[in-house]
Amino acid sequence: MNDNLHQLRCFGCGARIAGADALPDFRCAVCGDLFEVEYPGWSQRRGPDRPNPGALKWLWRERKSSAEALDHSGVWRFRELLPILDSFGNAITLFEGNTPLYHLPRASKALGIDQLFAKHQGMNPTGSFKDTGMTSAMSVARERGFEWVACASTGNTSAAMAAYAARAGLRSLVLIPDGKIAWGKLSQAMDYGAITCQLKADFDGCLTLLTQIVKEAPIYLLNSVNPYRLEGQKTPAFEIAEAFDWNVPDHLIVPGGNLGNSSALGKGFRELHELGLVARIPRISVIQAEGANPLVRSLAVTHGASLEPVEAHTRATAIRIGNPASWRKAARVIQDTGGWCLDVTEAEIAIAKAELGAEGLGCEPASAVTLAGLKKLRAQGVVASNETVVLVLTGHTLKDADYTIDFHRGTLLTDEEKTGKEAEIDALRRNAVVVDATPAAVLATLKGKVG
Ligand code: F0G
Repeated sequence: MNDNLHQLRCFGCGARIAGADALPDFRCAVCGDLFEVEYPGWSQRRGPDRPNPGALKWLWRERKSSAEALDHSGVWRFRELLPILDSFGNAITLFEGNTPLYHLPRASKALGIDQLFAKHQGMNPTGSFKDTGMTSAMSVARERGFEWVACASTGNTSAAMAAYAARAGLRSLVLIPDGKIAWGKLSQAMDYGAITCQLKADFDGCLTLLTQIVKEAPIYLLNSVNPYRLEGQKTPAFEIAEAFDWNVPDHLIVPGGNLGNSSALGKGFRELHELGLVARIPRISVIQAEGANPLVRSLAVTHGASLEPVEAHTRATAIRIGNPASWRKAARVIQDTGGWCLDVTEAEIAIAKAELGAEGLGCEPASAVTLAGLKKLRAQGVVASNETVVLVLTGHTLKDADYTIDFHRGTLLTDEEKTGKEAEIDALRRNAVVVDATPAAVLATLKGKVG
């Protein structure tokens, strides 16, 4: 590892260690908190290791038309800001990142915000934002000589890990909550050759168990407690800043589960600011499902001083997490950037997902919490009509087709959940209909809908 360039700093007590000295569970030996990667050279104002903003912006743009394979990765294109490998030649890439930023004309109009965009991280190679963090941490796993990697997952981490492990020639172990992950994700882990254990436990139970396992066997932990995951996951912040010609949006809205993603994006923007690449940082808001909202509660009750785990329930299974590992980091990001943390109901999530679908942008239910949350922030008057907002869509719609079909068939939500929102839901539903195979019958289905 290139320990001259990076070290790990404990988020809790500030203890610093060399990357190679991290414990298998990535917890601080002094206080038990998580680590962050830091680059000491960057703080020496005129030091040789400090990146030059103008040169970097030019170089990263040039790489978009480069013939070199590594430059085709939207993560490693920014490799000067994640010097975590001995050699970049060791990077395991599936050409992740470089995801699209879409304008949302319908939602913009409905919410009265001109500049509303979606950064669609579901357009990554395995269909979720996890790929950006998996390329970085898997590369470290291989450089350090591990043969086995493992994660606990609500589905997307396992899909990404299995794929990158296969590319790296490593073996992978997946622990998932039995019956509580979307089929699309489970099928990916199987396809990419992971050993998949479905446990009679929730995500939090799976992660606790895995933490014990990695202490007993030489298996590299690839959950987002691994700080090298966050190094890759910070790069969408660079892409967003670049897309706005280094004038960052006013608001970034992110779903919150285990809270690694919001932590990583906050770190990405913070580093851009510290290095002089951007003049300010967006407000970063985190949205949780009402039934899986421990961070919302923590901030409301203790201002983020402590977190009471909850028993999580939501159909947005990706964020069905009651005891998020990175909650301290995420709380800091929200507080430092002046963002908000709130929760949305099952009906609000389903409606927002269908609205995004109607814009031609399918996503997972967990991603749709961002639009549902924005509606609330707009109603509270904290997002102004002339501000620029970016929603981070974290997963592809095909990950959880059952959810979408149930919504359109009208079987997803209970009557109680739908109360007061029946008309809104009915207007969005597009159930498939069975018709005779004749032109007249098909055209009859369009009655009242064309012309
Ligand atoms: N959106 C999707 C689609 C996810 O898969 C996840 C997390 C999140 C949002 C929340 O991100 O945990 O960084 O706050 N999925 C993890 C998994 C937990 O195992 O795939 P977070």
